[in-house]
Amino acid sequence: MRIAFLGGGNMATALIGGLVARGFAVPNLSVVESNALARDRLVTAYGVHISEAADEVTRAADTLVLAVKPQDMKSALATLAPAVAGKLVISIAAGIRLATLSRWLGGHQKIVRCMPNTPALIGEGITGIFAPPGVSDEERARAEKILGAVGAHVWVAQEELLDPVTALSGSGPAYVFWFIEQLARSGEALGLPPETALKLALDTVVGSAKLAARSEDPPAVLREKVTSKGGTTEAALKVFASEKLGEGLGRALEAASRRGTELGDTLDKA
Ligand SMILES: NC(=O)c1ccc[n+]([C@@H]2O[C@H](COP(=O)([O-])OP(=O)(O)OC[C@H]3O[C@@H](n4cnc5c(N)ncnc54)[C@H](OP(=O)(O)O)[C@@H]3O)[C@@H](O)[C@H]2O)c1
Repeated sequence: MRIAFLGGGNMATALIGGLVARGFAVPNLSVVESNALARDRLVTAYGVHISEAADEVTRAADTLVLAVKPQDMKSALATLAPAVAGKLVISIAAGIRLATLSRWLGGHQKIVRCMPNTPALIGEGITGIFAPPGVSDEERARAEKILGAVGAHVWVAQEELLDPVTALSGSGPAYVFWFIEQLARSGEALGLPPETALKLALDTVVGSAKLAARSEDPPAVLREKVTSKGGTTEAALKVFASEKLGEGLGRALEAASRRGTELGDTLDKA
């Protein structure tokens, strides 16, 4: 596999770092990056071939990873369209639909669409992936290998499901950061020093997530196990229920998913 990245920012750097750490050959990686600072950073960190515009190395790649911001994608692809014939194209750009990308790439069909999330930057991401029927098993495996360099992945059966994926795991890190903030603030309100409250909040979220990930019990059973009748946890969970926090979270995800669909519409008209 010879991979060319379009855009060498945060996400591409994380993917390149993950691939190199897993033993992927650096000479088989290249990057097209318009920003001189980003080019310097990547060359210094990994010594990959890097160019300001698509060159013969980009054209020799069999896999192209689209990693520029959604609003930069149309113009970035304009210069690339003649070089994509026969290549597997993997887009990690939020919101841009396959039909839109295909149109911007002169009708190219072999495109996989992915929705990673921010923990990918430390190799702990989760990515939702969709591939249309024209993408072969070998090409799907290529996408898994690349995204697998920064964490786990799940396949979705329809492209439309990438909007709920975006609402859940794409935006999800912000919900978790918000939850940590609220836990810490509430602890402070009960008299804990700020640093103590933040450490308790952060380590509780990290530890509970690790326990849930490792346990054979589903989260609901783990919750029941720590909720003794008449105890402190039950007192708190009763307030969650009476304040309908679960329903509120459901409405929040609906809003995020709807916004994803709207952004896809807007990008399609760009
Ligand atoms: N970061 C995340 O957690 C995350 C999560 C899910 C999805 N994504 C997706 O991943 C993609 C990349 O995000 P990112 O955070 O890595 O963005 P980023 O750090 O801004 O990286 C994009 C890079 O591409 C460069 N660029 C812009 N136009 C270009 C062109 N025509 N040719 C070559 N390079 C060009 C940019 O240069 P300038 O800075 O000079 O513009 C920048 O260095 C986005 O589409 C985003 O939706 C990111």
